[in-house]
Amino acid sequence: MTKRIDDFKIVDNKRITEDLFILELLGNEKLPDFKPGQFVQVRVDGSPGTFLRRPISVHDVDYKQNTFKLLIQEAGPGTYRLAKLIPGDILNLIYPLGNSFTDPSEGERVLLVGGGAGVAPLLFLGKHLLSIGCKPDWLLGFRNKERIIDLEEYKKIGDVYLTTEDGSEGEKGYVTSHSVLSEKHYDRIYCCGPDPMMKAVGVYSMNNNINCELSLENLMACGIGICLCCIVSTVRGNICTCTEGPVFNIIELKW
Ligand SMILES: Cc1cc2nc3c(=O)[nH]c(=O)nc-3n(C[C@H](O)[C@H](O)[C@H](O)COP(=O)(O)OP(=O)(O)OC[C@H]3O[C@@H](n4cnc5c(N)ncnc54)[C@H](O)[C@@H]3O)c2cc1C
Ligand code: FES
Repeated sequence: MTKRIDDFKIVDNKRITEDLFILELLGNEKLPDFKPGQFVQVRVDGSPGTFLRRPISVHDVDYKQNTFKLLIQEAGPGTYRLAKLIPGDILNLIYPLGNSFTDPSEGERVLLVGGGAGVAPLLFLGKHLLSIGCKPDWLLGFRNKERIIDLEEYKKIGDVYLTTEDGSEGEKGYVTSHSVLSEKHYDRIYCCGPDPMMKAVGVYSMNNNINCELSLENLMACGIGICLCCIVSTVRGNICTCTEGPVFNIIELKW
């Protein structure tokens, strides 16, 4: 898919938890057919210490309005700056980047597993799955009740199972300890979240013979296969997460 560099106008910046916010962006040009799992490289203007673009997943797309959303966690100078954007501000992006999740086979039972900001690429994927006739379940993990995002959009797609680390909502613990995993059988898992969570979900999937795709969030600089700072070790050798990923099947990864 051809990569573009364009300016987008911010039409909304909505705070959803203490450290998460959603930017809605309006394109000048007609949006490309984004694939679930793809990301954009965001230029952070007005922040002298943030020379490199920041990779952020496509969270949701509205082709009728020619808008799309990014769900962002404040993690450092770049994302702190993005959190301050207001409607009318301009954001420069390189897009669309990376590969995408593969579609399930007909009749496969699918689980979407996300942790914290790791839900970002999964909402778009969930909507896509529903559009091709697959109704997935959600298994979402958050640190505590205060960090849970508004789940209405997710509930429209499938049943939502929750964990919090302190037990303030849903089941207490990590996603891999949720009882739904022993009560229901899934053929395929799609997952995005912190590395320890993805590793645990990967091990669970391997042990239970479940097809599992993970969206990796390796550190990135260029986002287009030049700097080699996002290398991941796989059965195909050491490859760039930004061009060959960010989505990998667990059986490919040498973790
Ligand atoms: C393909 C891809 C998609 C992503 N999608 C999203 C998304 O949809 N929403 C979102 O909030 N974040 C996403 N991230 C992570 C996001 O890019 C980083 O959090 C962001 O670049 C941090 O920039 P910063 O300037 O705010 O903080 P920095 O100062 O750059 O980093 C702050 C802290 O976060 C750590 N960090 C930086 N980048 C990453 C990373 N990739 N993974 C884990 N830790 C990191 C740093 O080591 C440092 O400790 C994605 C990353 C990748 C590679
Ligand atoms: S980020 Fe530069 S090669 Fe992947």
